[in-house]
Amino acid sequence: MDAHEQIRTTQVVPVIALDDAAHAGPLGEALVAGRLPIAEVTFRTEAAVESIATMARNPELLVGAGTVVNVDQVDQAAEAGARFVVSPGFSASVAARCADHGLPLFPGVATATEIIAALDAGITTVKFFPASTSGGAPAIKALSAPFPQVRFVPTGGISPSNLADYLAVDAVTACGGSWMVPSAALRAGDFDQITKLAAEAVALAASLRN
Ligand code: 3PG
Repeated sequence: MDAHEQIRTTQVVPVIALDDAAHAGPLGEALVAGRLPIAEVTFRTEAAVESIATMARNPELLVGAGTVVNVDQVDQAAEAGARFVVSPGFSASVAARCADHGLPLFPGVATATEIIAALDAGITTVKFFPASTSGGAPAIKALSAPFPQVRFVPTGGISPSNLADYLAVDAVTACGGSWMVPSAALRAGDFDQITKLAAEAVALAASLRN
């Protein structure tokens, strides 16, 4: 599956900050065990590139790079084996470099102007970020009116308690968030908890849409 198909299937995307690349392998296995075989590994830590490279070796896992804000990071993500790129905002140069590498990009948008910039770059699935402080589900509904062709992956402030609000919006393909991979669980090496949280998130999303 490519990134678009995978996020449509699970409807949730774990956003991960790894401090220690040694956790990347077991984390990937934990997510696969929880039937959430996708990971957005953010470029917020030194361990990001090595973690992506490790996770990319797991054939059951689709690993992407998150918090990508410049073309050098796009190159590093591609080199490490990332299969998709997520950015907190829209950058035409990041979009062009992703296209050069054949990598799907989910750029962050919170306004109509940013959506138009993404459409100009040929992108129709965007991250809506930061979702909770940018108007939440009602804002996505409002933006969908002029942009019926656009699909949204809201991220930022989403948890099991408000997932239903977002998945109730037809234009929402999936929701991103860090709640499935808490940093405390990672630090403690509690991968069973991560499997449990991943499985619960997938089950909750499926129940909300069915
Ligand atoms: C992101 O980078 O997309 C967010 O930081 C994740 O937001 P959350 O921690 O509120 O889920």
